[in-house]
Amino acid sequence: MATALISRRARSLRGRTTVPGDKSLSHRALILGALAVGETRITGLLESEDVLGTAKAVAGLGAEVQRDGAGTWRVWGRGVGGLSEPSGVLDMGNSGTAARLLMGVAATHPFTTTFAGDASLSERPMERVMSPLSQMGARFTARSGGRLPITVTGARQPIPITYELPVASAQVKSAVLLAGLNTPGKTTVIEPQSTRDHSERLLAHFGAEVTVEKMPSGGRRVTVTGQPELSGRVVEVPGDISSAAFPLVAALLVPGSEVTLEGVGVNPLRIGLIDTLDEMGARIMLRNRRKVSGEPVADLVARASRLKGVVVPAGRAPSMIDEYPVLAVAAACARGTTRLEGIGELRVKESDRLAAIARGLKAAGVSVDETENSLTIFGVGGPPAGVARVAVHLDHRIAMAFAVLGMVAEKPVTVDDADSSP
Ligand code: S3P
Repeated sequence: MATALISRRARSLRGRTTVPGDKSLSHRALILGALAVGETRITGLLESEDVLGTAKAVAGLGAEVQRDGAGTWRVWGRGVGGLSEPSGVLDMGNSGTAARLLMGVAATHPFTTTFAGDASLSERPMERVMSPLSQMGARFTARSGGRLPITVTGARQPIPITYELPVASAQVKSAVLLAGLNTPGKTTVIEPQSTRDHSERLLAHFGAEVTVEKMPSGGRRVTVTGQPELSGRVVEVPGDISSAAFPLVAALLVPGSEVTLEGVGVNPLRIGLIDTLDEMGARIMLRNRRKVSGEPVADLVARASRLKGVVVPAGRAPSMIDEYPVLAVAAACARGTTRLEGIGELRVKESDRLAAIARGLKAAGVSVDETENSLTIFGVGGPPAGVARVAVHLDHRIAMAFAVLGMVAEKPVTVDDADSSP
């Protein structure tokens, strides 16, 4: 049975801490390590269920994976195109990133792989990766609606494509680029809106030829040259800004707080939350900026602040897609109205996050106006009332966001499942 968590009003939060390793980079480091020749050494790896699932999957595909200590792992890869058919089904658990990226890898390896996942992942859309990967020559069998379990038979003679993303999704972009790695010639992804570029940066770090052209519209054209020799590398995974978001917002909301979060990844395509909180009047500073394994990193300092409502434009959504649940909590406490525009993608995350946020905030005594693609939150200008019980629906970010709400609300907040892991 799931463990419930009760979050109560907190006294001021003060001190320095670190947050768990970046999830996006953890998956990618293991996958590229498996496609490189020689040893990849990873430090700071996020050891959550999702990422451990990827470690097991790449081992199932023939890479050698070893845990040396907390967050420190080594992978001995098989080279681009060198993976082998797994003997069983690859269990992707709750992870959309693992499923979609590994389908990209499997799409250009000439054997058959079956992917399965938990109840939440089995409802999420996979057609968005199957469509471009089919154009490259892979063959898929899926449950109705393009849902898991899915079996892919990789192309023996893959075809390079130029693919324009119909949805702003780094997972789809990465799936196509990873398939392009074992495809002769150049594979190009055009993204009308820029999404996180961890795959591009890490591919370059491992020695692939990747070019990125910025387009006047704000999007990008990313090209990978196929069949390079990737070499094992050292990858230091920074703290995850998406995890830092929770203590950061808690520090802004709990009076008298000052918190420093050390070594957090601040990739410009991931920091939409910081930009938004800045506009809301938050006191956040980025200190000690540096670059680690090709990614910008900084220490984040957050002080309790009086926040005001803002409009968050649709164009910012990809840079803060996982941060809307906790931003909504900040908006609920702010003075004035916050409007979150162009957030329909939240409906196909680990749960229907748009609906879950709206339901939870209403239960906490906050007025909201929900449409298919937007959410308007009428800020209370202080602590909301609180919620008796929030249903998490296998979604860790909903659990964490409402745990933060409980730290400021008048009454405690109970989250029905504290076991869901990133
Ligand atoms: C991720 C991309 C985002 C994000 C997810 C991680 C990634 O998904 O929500 O948590 O690592 O590429 P989409 O690309 O589907 O928006």
